[in-house]
Amino acid sequence: MKFRTIKGTKDILPDEIAGWQHVESVVRRVMHDFNYREIRTPAFEQTGLFARSIGELTDIVSKEMYTFLDRSEESLTLRPEGTAATLRAYIQNNLGEQSPLTKVYYIGPMFRQERPQAGRLRQFHQFGAEALGASSPLLDVETMVLPLEIYKQLGIDRFALKINSVGCEKCRPAYKQLLQTELRKVFSQLSPDSQARVEQNPLRVLDSKNEKDRELTNNMPLMSEHFCEKCALHFASVRSLLEALSIAYEVDGRLVRGLDYYTKTAFEITSTALGSQDALAGGGRYDLLIEELGGKSTPGVGFAAGIERLLMVLSKLGKSKQTRATPILYFIGLDEPARIWAFLKANELRRQDICAEVDYLGRSVKSQMREANRQQAHYVIVVGEQELKTKAAKLKNMRTGEETSISLDDIKIPS
Ligand code: HAM
Repeated sequence: MKFRTIKGTKDILPDEIAGWQHVESVVRRVMHDFNYREIRTPAFEQTGLFARSIGELTDIVSKEMYTFLDRSEESLTLRPEGTAATLRAYIQNNLGEQSPLTKVYYIGPMFRQERPQAGRLRQFHQFGAEALGASSPLLDVETMVLPLEIYKQLGIDRFALKINSVGCEKCRPAYKQLLQTELRKVFSQLSPDSQARVEQNPLRVLDSKNEKDRELTNNMPLMSEHFCEKCALHFASVRSLLEALSIAYEVDGRLVRGLDYYTKTAFEITSTALGSQDALAGGGRYDLLIEELGGKSTPGVGFAAGIERLLMVLSKLGKSKQTRATPILYFIGLDEPARIWAFLKANELRRQDICAEVDYLGRSVKSQMREANRQQAHYVIVVGEQELKTKAAKLKNMRTGEETSISLDDIKIPS
C-alpha cells in the first residue's frame, strides 16, 4: 500500500458513520432548542490569531500547531480549536451590531500535533458553542448545561463536572505574584514543564498532571482565596444556578485548563468510562478576548467537546448507533434491456425519495439476489423480457417472503 493516513488521523468509514450522524443530529437538535445558530469558519487562519488568543506559552501554540508558510509566505495555521476563529468571524462580520447577544455553535475538525494515543488525535472533531455579549453567570451555566444535555440525550449518565474560577484582570495579578513567590521556593524540584511556567503562567503549574508537582503545590494558595468581590459573586452565582438545576459538580481549585484566554469560570467534563484522556469537554468565560483580538470590549463564554472521545464512551457503554442505510427497493435485471429499464426506473423513484438500487456489474440473477440480501433490501423486483412486455411484475418483501403483483408503470412501496 503506497499511501496511508497521516499518523493521528483517521478515516471515518461508512460502517461507522451512523454513530457520527446520530451524535451530530442530537447536537444540532439541542443547539436549536437552546437557540444557538450554526457558524462555519475556515479550517485555517492567520497564525497570529491563535498565538494571540490561546497564548504563546501554551502547549497548543508552542508545540502542537500545524503552522506553515503558504506560497505568498504568509504564516497560516490549521485551527487547533474553534473559539478564536468564531470570535474572529464575530468581529470581522460585526455580528455584535446585529444583536447584543450572539449565540453560535460549530461542529468540525480541529488539528493539533499531539502524541497520538487512544482518545488523542492530530485531526479530531469538536462540537462547541460560544455566547458573546453578556457577562451573566446564566450563560456560564448554559454552556455547561448544553454538553450535559447532549450527553444525556445520547444515553450517557456517568460524567463529572469540575468547575473553577481563574479570576479576572483585577484580582488575578496580585494572586499570580503571591503564587509565584511560593513556586520560586520549590523551583528546583518542579518538573521542567512547570519550571517554564513559573514566571509566565504560574496558575498552570497548579494544573500539572505530574505527581511531584502536585505534591509540592498541594498547600499553595488558590485563586478562590483571593477573588475580588465581583469574581466571588460570579462564582457563587454559577454554583447556586447549578444547584438550582440539580446538576452535580465538584469545585476544583486547581483547574486552569490549557488555554490562556479564560477569565472567571473554567470547567471541564470528564467521563469515568475513559482512560487517561478522560476530558470529554471543556470551556469557560473569556471576557477580555474579543477586545484582545481587536473587537469592542465584549464578554463571552463557551465550551467545546471532542466527538471521538464521546464515541469511545458511547461504545464502552454499549450505546453506539450501528444502523446502516439499506435500499428500500432492489431491481434484479434478467437481461441487458431489463437492466437499462431498471436503471431509468430507479432514477425516477429516487426523485420520489425512494432509495432504489440496481446491478451495475452485469451479475447473474443469483448473485444479484445475493447482493440484494447482503444490502438488506426491503423489497426486490425481478424484471425481464416478459415483465417489460406485460408491464407486470412481482414485488417481493424480503423480510416476509411475501410476493404481490404490481404494475411496472406505477410502482408503489407499501409503507
Ligand atoms: P479544549 O479543552 O482544548 O478546549 O478541547 C475541548 C475538547 O476537545 C477536549 O475536552 C477533548 O474532548 C477534545 N480534544 C482536544 N484535543 C483533542 C485531541 N488531540 N484528540 C481528541 N480530542 C481532543 C477548547 O478547544 C476550547 N476552544 C473550548 C472553549 C470554547 N472554551 C471556550 N469556548
